[in-house]
Amino acid sequence: MKTVHTVSDLREAVDAYRQQGKRIALVPTMGNLHAGHLALVHDARERADIVITSIFVNPLQFGPNEDLDSYPRTLAEDQNRLADAGNDLVFAPSAREVYPNGIEYHTHVTVPAITELHCGASRPGHFTGVATVVTILFNMVRPDLAIFGEKDFQQLAVIRKLTRDLCLPIEIIGMPTFRESDGLAMSSRNNYLTDAERHKAIRLYEMLCETAERIKEGRRDFSTLSNEAIKTLDQEGFHPDYFNIVNSDSLEPAAYDDHNITILGAAWLGRTRLIDNVSLRLD
Ligand code: PAJ
Repeated sequence: MKTVHTVSDLREAVDAYRQQGKRIALVPTMGNLHAGHLALVHDARERADIVITSIFVNPLQFGPNEDLDSYPRTLAEDQNRLADAGNDLVFAPSAREVYPNGIEYHTHVTVPAITELHCGASRPGHFTGVATVVTILFNMVRPDLAIFGEKDFQQLAVIRKLTRDLCLPIEIIGMPTFRESDGLAMSSRNNYLTDAERHKAIRLYEMLCETAERIKEGRRDFSTLSNEAIKTLDQEGFHPDYFNIVNSDSLEPAAYDDHNITILGAAWLGRTRLIDNVSLRLD
């Protein structure tokens, strides 16, 4: 498996794959890879001839008081895991390679409306950072398809919209959330949890599942259900950011007769911000 750090080396490799008529999948990541990331690589392996994983901790998607500096960077371990998973090429550019004139002078891609809800409301500018870097990575790699996790449900919706709106000829695939054995969604940020917090962290997923059960039983008082979950999480030592019951396509508040519902939750536990979601289909 090869690793390239510059766009010109990437282009050279990609041009060769293209000349051989290969179908190329891109798995964009920020590294510190866990089994959830690797599940995306395995899925890419099934769908394409060539799998390219990008590793780039994107400064543009971090807020001024967020964890850009402390975000775990583990390139050597990531390379080993990717080689074992059958990845073909790693693209690990520097910030200068992606933003040659610095982030403040770079053209930004802003997706309206959907980015103002949920995580977008508490992390202003975050989704512009994501949309911008994903568009840049798409143009650098020019993949046939790109794979993202449903763990970041709103991010996936934002990327689907930008791909449609900008008419990018790339198929977007969403993959189910990969979980630890107790159900906690795998995340690079789980590394920040203390042992005690790690035990408690599972309660966010449990609250999402419990709320889904209440809806399946017939409850439709969505705002009461949300408030109850927020209150419980708060009493258990979380600082809930939001707990929203939404239409799975629009991500707007769910309506009484919606069939596809997603419950999105985000909460701080100590210095760790956890996000997770559960989707349900009502017939
Ligand atoms: P990162 O958090 O590294 O995640 C990379 C990809 O892995 C994303 O598509 C994310 O949804 C997926 N992923 C993370 N944890 C997962 C899990 N437990 N199960 C399944 N998939 C999971 O998301 C980003 O990076 C960045 O915002 C990025 C899209 C790379 C843009 O910078």
